[in-house]
Amino acid sequence: GIDPTFETSRDVADEHEGHTVWGPVDEPETLGIHGTHVAVDFDICIADGACLEDCPVDVFEWTDTPDHPESEIKADPANEAQCIDCMLCVDVCPVDAIDVDPG
Ligand code: SF4
Ligand code: F3S
Ligand code: ZN
Repeated sequence: GIDPTFETSRDVADEHEGHTVWGPVDEPETLGIHGTHVAVDFDICIADGACLEDCPVDVFEWTDTPDHPESEIKADPANEAQCIDCMLCVDVCPVDAIDVDPG
């Protein structure tokens, strides 16, 4: 699953749609972690979709990741500032790709 210590173990590699991308990034096969308060490890996400379906405030949006070995779309935490820390997404993701840190 996602490494919950990513903020210290990884470096900022990029920005995407207003949120941080934590490296390493080497497209298309290595995509890193998108978001910080709501963090999705794109290299673990298999596009199950439970997080998009269950988030009560629609934090996630699909983003295209062509040629990534796990899936060609990912759940992007596009609206992470809206998160109400309910932890549903963390509980439902079958591959433990999401970390939510209420701070
Ligand atoms: Fe949405 Fe709850 Fe996950 Fe926050 S913790 S992104 S509100 S499902
Ligand atoms: Fe991906 Fe897990 Fe959501 S596999 S689409 S982060 S439920
Ligand atoms: Zn993103």
